[in-house]
Amino acid sequence: MKLPDTQVALLNAASATDSKTVAQLSEATGENPEALAGAAFDLEAQGFVAVEERTDDRLALTDEGDRYREAGLPEVRLYRAADAAGATDDPVSMGRVIGDAELEGPTVDIALTNFARKGLGDIEDGALSADPDIDPESDPHAAALAAIADGEEVSDDPVVDRLVERGLVDRSERVERAVTLTDDGVTALMEGVEPAETVGQLTPELLTSGEWEDVEFAEYNVEADAEPASGGRTHILRQTAESVKDTLVGMGFQEMEGPHADADFWINDALFMPQDHPARTHWDRFTLDTEPMADLPTELVARVEDAHRNGVGEDGEGYHSPWSEEFAREVALRGHTTSLSMRYLSGEAVGELEPPQRWFSVEKVYRNDTLDPTHLLEFFQIEGWVMAEDLSVRDLMGTFEEFYSQFGITDIEFKPHYNPYTEPSFELFGTHPKTGEIVEIGNSGIFREEVLRPLGVECDVMAWGLALERLLMLMYGFEDIRDVHGTLCDLDLLRNVEVLA
Ligand code: PHE
Repeated sequence: MKLPDTQVALLNAASATDSKTVAQLSEATGENPEALAGAAFDLEAQGFVAVEERTDDRLALTDEGDRYREAGLPEVRLYRAADAAGATDDPVSMGRVIGDAELEGPTVDIALTNFARKGLGDIEDGALSADPDIDPESDPHAAALAAIADGEEVSDDPVVDRLVERGLVDRSERVERAVTLTDDGVTALMEGVEPAETVGQLTPELLTSGEWEDVEFAEYNVEADAEPASGGRTHILRQTAESVKDTLVGMGFQEMEGPHADADFWINDALFMPQDHPARTHWDRFTLDTEPMADLPTELVARVEDAHRNGVGEDGEGYHSPWSEEFAREVALRGHTTSLSMRYLSGEAVGELEPPQRWFSVEKVYRNDTLDPTHLLEFFQIEGWVMAEDLSVRDLMGTFEEFYSQFGITDIEFKPHYNPYTEPSFELFGTHPKTGEIVEIGNSGIFREEVLRPLGVECDVMAWGLALERLLMLMYGFEDIRDVHGTLCDLDLLRNVEVLA
């Protein structure tokens, strides 16, 4: 029987009684391991060999790990210096021991943290005492670093885990394949296998000699396992934002855009938010150290000021609280994208708008919140509004039901709420698919006269701000917003998650 070179070499080197790894076969045949793995799969498909796969961890020192292997772990160096300075008897000043140990920069912290953590001694009031029962020469971490460097097995898992955590050792998975001859393989060998003259690779020599025209090329095995290659990918949050945008465009909305840092006027005053409202204090708001906004529409500012001071309509009273144009011109990071809705509704962004109109944005907002599983200092808000004659709460509810159902969420609940700028107002809730908890997902309402009249809008406007991250929680069952934001995101999730909708 004729088989390609590599397959023949592999069959001859393999054994029926003794499984051999690809590395061993590579050593025996001089063929490269990738080619042998490919040959093994081809032979397996023909029934001549059995291929067994084992995954195991492969450990390697990082640059930092390698430095410590040579120079000693910082905490061990600290212990030695402490010991030499007599700290096993009486506490010695920390500065002196650090100096003696010749530790510098970030290694000082590393040394101190691990010194305490490993119980090598105590640090109190700037003095260091060393435990006399410690043998610095038998530090298990140092021993493991040396063993890993020498390619030896290290079976102490907690030690390896800790070294990986400290960034001294890299752990990667390695698939090892072992090959054994099957009965058919043995029979084939006994009947005789010879190399078929196939060429596995096109070389410059084949090309220049012109030989490539006569040789037979080996076929590609397109089913063989290969190393996974992961390239860049759009983040799940961004992908979901895009699908929200598509959905809203499909519902007839146009996209708004505008500044992340904006005048308080657009973020709050235009929304009839009193200037002494708690949300407008430094507790909630990120003030920026920038010049106040010079460019605000004068007449609109006057009408908004009048609404705040005197109210709107026959029995409007306004707020009996101070209002200053100076504050209105201050610039802050927007805490909601309703600032964009104000810019568009006032005609400032794209000129006067005639009803009916539908606009949205899916953009970042910034709040000085306390971090917890459902709050970050920034998140994406799905802002939207509809301008038309005679809108009611039923129109608003219907819009949400239509919107959320496109993401598979059909159990939205509503609760009456208060906003200074909408009446009536209500919050939206959904049920978390894993915990069953009711989660707030948005806030909405119909803009008050006090907001619309100064803007010059004469019909109804219903509006909302929904949290994109909360939508993700309902769609994917995430329990912590940090699962999709920031450095704690799981890379595998980001690589593999299938974006719904
Ligand atoms: N600005 C509100 C928020 O951030 C959302 C909202 C927008 C509510 C428009 C009503 C109308 O919670």
